[in-house]
Amino acid sequence: MSRARTAPDVSAEQVADWLKSRRSIRAYRETLVDRPLIEQALETARFAPSGHNRQPVSWIVVSGRDKISSLASAVIEWMRNAVAGGYPAAARLGFEGLVRRWDQGDDQICRNAPHLLLAHGPQSDTIAPGSCIIAVTYLQLAAAGLGLGTCWAGYVMIAMGLEPAFAKLIGLPEGQQVYGATLLGHARYKYHAIPARNELRVEWR
Ligand SMILES: Cc1cc2nc3c(=O)[nH]c(=O)nc-3n(C[C@H](O)[C@H](O)[C@H](O)COP(=O)(O)O)c2cc1C
Repeated sequence: MSRARTAPDVSAEQVADWLKSRRSIRAYRETLVDRPLIEQALETARFAPSGHNRQPVSWIVVSGRDKISSLASAVIEWMRNAVAGGYPAAARLGFEGLVRRWDQGDDQICRNAPHLLLAHGPQSDTIAPGSCIIAVTYLQLAAAGLGLGTCWAGYVMIAMGLEPAFAKLIGLPEGQQVYGATLLGHARYKYHAIPARNELRVEWR
């Protein structure tokens, strides 16, 4: 008879160190990650919490630098137009600098990553945005456990949120919205130290 798996015994210190040592990876090897490994990370992310346990998160995995680069290029052209049009978010979010770096051959949108994972949920579901963010966070931690590098694709998320035309580019089903996005691949480097962070801010009432 098969028994349900239980959580392994890990110390509080191991859990804390593991969480503290996750880092953003911004340089990837060209090779694609084997699909079963990506599936394994997605499988763990499936266990992320969601409001009412509604589990509203679905994923789109874009693989291949060419495809991802053409999506990054579309985001840059959208940013270029936003800068030219004096769009308020353009200055606030530093679009001009991102466009300049792109024109110099530096992709700060998708970092030449071999995979882009997009978490999406129903537009009508108020808990979908938060659930997608939590699912991406789980995915990133699971990927780190598998020796893979990840980095939030924040500008892709912004573009997806503000420009409906991007939905077509990634084949997003009708009525769905992308709320989370992460790059993924084999890291070109590894971090060893736990990074410095701001002091804890907390008020006890
Ligand atoms: C919502 C969100 C969006 C982000 N977007 C980007 C991004 O577009 N590009 C990038 O290089 N890093 C992005 N990051 C990564 C942060 O810059 C990074 O987490 C922070 O600098 C701390 O570094 P660490 O992740 O290595 O600990 C984003 C992080 C979050 C949480």
